[in-house]
Parts: sequence; structure tokens; C-alpha cells
Amino acid sequence: MKKLDQVYEGKAKKVFKTDDANLLIVDYKDDATAFNGVKKGTIIGKGAINNRMTNHFMRLLEQAGVPTHYVEELTDRETLVKNVKIIPLEVIVRNIAAGSFSKRFGVKEGTVFRKPTLEFSYKNDELGDPMINDSQIYAIDLAKPSELALIREYALRINEFLKSTLFECGITLVDFKLEFGKTSDGVIILADEISPDTCRFWDAKTGEKLDKDRFRQDLGNVEGAYQEMSRRIFGK
Ligand code: TMP
Repeated sequence: MKKLDQVYEGKAKKVFKTDDANLLIVDYKDDATAFNGVKKGTIIGKGAINNRMTNHFMRLLEQAGVPTHYVEELTDRETLVKNVKIIPLEVIVRNIAAGSFSKRFGVKEGTVFRKPTLEFSYKNDELGDPMINDSQIYAIDLAKPSELALIREYALRINEFLKSTLFECGITLVDFKLEFGKTSDGVIILADEISPDTCRFWDAKTGEKLDKDRFRQDLGNVEGAYQEMSRRIFGK
């Protein structure tokens, strides 16, 4: 597979064309940003960890019946994925209050929800990724009702799957963000990544934060948290 021109550079990944129009190569960077790019930094080794972890979860999710964009891991930072049109929605599932939920609704961090919550943000950096509801999603034509229903179903299934998989590694899945894409034949599949950049992971015993919140909140030992998550999932 030939790596051709770069088609996109995001905050944490670059995307390249290949000689097959249906396939792209994602290249994970060590760059980290927070607060819509206001805070910038580097987390050494993050790209390789996020690549490996995302691919691991996507392979398992495929086996569990959730279609994903994953095709093949090429190098420690590069993965071959299906070329999809990303639906500009951040699909956020929460099991425990933290981050913007705690701030917006005045709910103490760590409050366990009776049922998972699901919310959407319109993925648009200029607008600061505003929260958006179903009828607003239909109004600006981001997805059809049947598509949103499927996205919801996948997101909740992914939550149950990740929650139990991570529980076995001694990790509490607090919340996470997903992105979905549409193939050229209109099929909705999971895209983007599942990593400590896009999830909140707490040590199940101590509550220690093992994700990007260490960077966002200047908690120190950021690299150590990513390495610990890798160790929990893959062993030494
Ligand atoms: P939030 O509490 O800041 O809304 O974040 C919810 C989850 O989504 C958390 O696991 C981090 C993840 N997330 C992203 O992956 N990208 C983003 O741009 C933001 C704001 C959150």
C-alpha cells in the first residue's frame, strides 16, 4: 500500500491518501491539545500507544458486531483505515460525572449515573464544538433519524463492551467520545480513535486518572499514565 499525499492534519493525527481510493492511512502524532487547541504540548510515545490501543479495541468491536474503519496496523504509528466521510458529531457516552458534565450541570466529579448518558456535540472548531440535540441535528442535516438511532445503538453497545473489557484490567470507564463515518455506499461505521486522548480512564481501586485529564489539568506524570494504560491492556 503506497502512502500518497496528506489529505488532512488534525490536532493528534495526520491522514494520507493511498493508491486505493477506498483506503486511507492514519498517522498518530505525539502532539496534544486541550480546550480547543488553546493548550498545546507533547506527550512522548502517545502516538504509538493510541494507535495500538485504538486498533486493539476496534478489532474486538468488529468481532462483537460493531463495524469500524479499521483495516490493518502498518507501523507503530500508522494504520490503514477505510475512507469514510466523517459525520461531524462528537458522540459522548458517560457513566460517571466528570469534565464538562460536572461543570455544566454542577454535579460532583465521580457521581455514578444510574444509566449511561449520551450527548452530541457539533464537531466544529470555529464554533467550539457546541452541544447539539436530535432536532437540531436533523435541522442542519448532519444525520437522518434512522442514522442517529443506529449511532446511539452502537455507542451504547460500545460502552457496555469497553466497560467490561476495561473492568477486567482494573480500569473504570468514566466517559468517552466517538466519531462515526459513512462509507461511499452509505454504511455507518465507527471511525477516529479510542484512546486515553478520547476517554476518561480511572484506576478502579485508587481512582487515579490514567488519561489526558493529566495533561488538561496539569496533574503531572502524563506519559506515565499513557504507559500504564498500555500496560494494563497489553501487559508488559
Ligand atoms: P468533556 O467532559 O470535556 O465533555 O469530555 C467528555 C469525553 O470526551 C472525555 O472522555 C474526553 C473526550 N473528548 C474528546 O475526545 N475530545 C474533545 O475535544 C473533548 C472536549 C472531549
